[in-house]
Amino acid sequence: MLREHTCGELTIKNVGSETTICGWVQKSRDLGGMTFIDVRDRYGITQIVFNMDVDADLCKKARVLGREFVIKVSGEVVERSNKNPDMITGDIEITVKSLEVLSESKTPPFLIEDETDGGEELRMQYRYLDLRRGPLKKNIELRHSVLKLTRDLLDAKDFLEIETPYLLKSTPEGARDFVVPSRMNQGQFYALPQSPQTFKQLFMVAGFDKYFQIVRCFRDEDLRADRQPEFTQIDCEMSFVEQEDVLTTFESFMKSMFKETLDVDLGNFQRITYDEALNSYGSDKPDIRFEMKIVDLTDMAQGKGFNVFDDSEIVVAINAKGCAGYSRKQLDALTDFVRTPQIGAKGMVYAKFNEDGTVKSSVDKFYNEADLKQWAEACGTETGDLLLLLSGDRQKTLVAMGELRLKMGSELGFREVGTFAPLWVLDFPLLEKDEDSGNWHAMHHPFTSPKTEDIEFMESDPGKVRANAYDLVINGIELGGGSIRIHERGLQDQMFKLLGFSKEEAQEQFGFLLNAFEYGAPPHGGIAFGFDRLVALLGGSESIREYIAFPKNNAGRDVMLDAPSPISKEQKKELGL
Ligand code: AMO
Repeated sequence: MLREHTCGELTIKNVGSETTICGWVQKSRDLGGMTFIDVRDRYGITQIVFNMDVDADLCKKARVLGREFVIKVSGEVVERSNKNPDMITGDIEITVKSLEVLSESKTPPFLIEDETDGGEELRMQYRYLDLRRGPLKKNIELRHSVLKLTRDLLDAKDFLEIETPYLLKSTPEGARDFVVPSRMNQGQFYALPQSPQTFKQLFMVAGFDKYFQIVRCFRDEDLRADRQPEFTQIDCEMSFVEQEDVLTTFESFMKSMFKETLDVDLGNFQRITYDEALNSYGSDKPDIRFEMKIVDLTDMAQGKGFNVFDDSEIVVAINAKGCAGYSRKQLDALTDFVRTPQIGAKGMVYAKFNEDGTVKSSVDKFYNEADLKQWAEACGTETGDLLLLLSGDRQKTLVAMGELRLKMGSELGFREVGTFAPLWVLDFPLLEKDEDSGNWHAMHHPFTSPKTEDIEFMESDPGKVRANAYDLVINGIELGGGSIRIHERGLQDQMFKLLGFSKEEAQEQFGFLLNAFEYGAPPHGGIAFGFDRLVALLGGSESIREYIAFPKNNAGRDVMLDAPSPISKEQKKELGL
């Protein structure tokens, strides 16, 4: 090794010994006769010092070292007069006796320190420099520990990690596929997996009754803070299980994960149905770190001459605790928020239950004090609180209220980093109707089984059929989703038919799976977790980009590689494009 110690391990115990360290020049301070340099590596920072009186040549050599030069220095570990209690190495420094420049560096385009001056695009372009910074380095280290822990925990439960191919035929998970042209089969394409869904089901047919894989998935969809076009799943499947078995197994997995990573006890996970989630929180992934449940005031609010409410399918409210003092400006800002195209409400009604006992609403013309007090009672509103109301079509209004609830939760400081509120959302509908085409789509994926008691509605009332599907949500983040699968050929045929596949189309696309079901398929089910989301949550952030070594930007581009990019004429010709 070129070094004897790292930059993060020398302490007072090493004083008096000689050593050699290597690292990057983080900072250099020239104090006349003395030059101090902070040398950084993956493990920490060590201060080295050059003394003009002791070795003038060496000191001059040190003075011209630029930021991010890679150096190797040897010298004696000495106790510092000016100690830094915030650093492990803060009690010592090295008096340098020899210095070697291993590699020079151009001036970096942004500060490589915990607080940087670089914009996001610039940092992504020079990702290898950004990764030198403490916060990002920590995130990558956390990712490593979570990878390792995932493998250890699942291995201990007898899960086998088995890899599946990346070049395959499209699996419908709801997003668009990334496709890869085949040179040997011109005019034909592979699809990259949106998930290994069908393969893991084939593993169950093959008898590998507990499978997992930490696997890259690819989805060509619009990107957000918690979505990347290529991301990693902890993909799992089990045989001879019912929904309860999957929930118990992975609740225990997740508890161990949080305990060992953060020393946090998650407690027992709450469970609510999809319908309750939507009605009470306006979302299928509610943040239950705080209550502020949505209350349906339709019956009370209609029939008093206020057309907006009378013409609405639903009138709903949330109670903002202690917010009666909100100013006109604050209320206007909330109204502007609900009117943004992403939220899509037409307007907002409020009622203030002032500290002095008076009640004031934006619809005083239509509702007297007794009416408003009736609302207050339904919502658990107390003196000093503010009621916020939205109305309109049922689904849209609930979702808009869900967003307003999250905004109020943030404003009131109820969504703290470091508190975790896990819950299972159960009983998802099996199908959802595409508004434009009128066709039914699988809400989770076409392999999800309907609840036995709802199978009878599959033909007559498909919208009513509930699925054996579940999501794990923590702090409003959908961390994972899965289902008990269909394992009978007949039911799978029926499902494809409902989804508008002809017999031939189903056979053409999924013949391999349908055929497998004719050779002894065990009952099975599973789940997949968003690995990047899990690491980000454990790290205290919602942006998964900060936990991926080389992520794509919001336009799906790798700005460092400048990809995607055109390919040459020759390459195209070879591929028959
Ligand atoms: P699903 O589509 O719900 O299920 O995906 C599972 C989990 O993967 C994460 N996830 C993503 N993370 C980052 N970027 C993305 N673009 C992205 N898309 C999804 C989410 C999500 O909960 N085959 C099924 C699983 C099963 O049924 O067992 C599946 O893929 O955290």
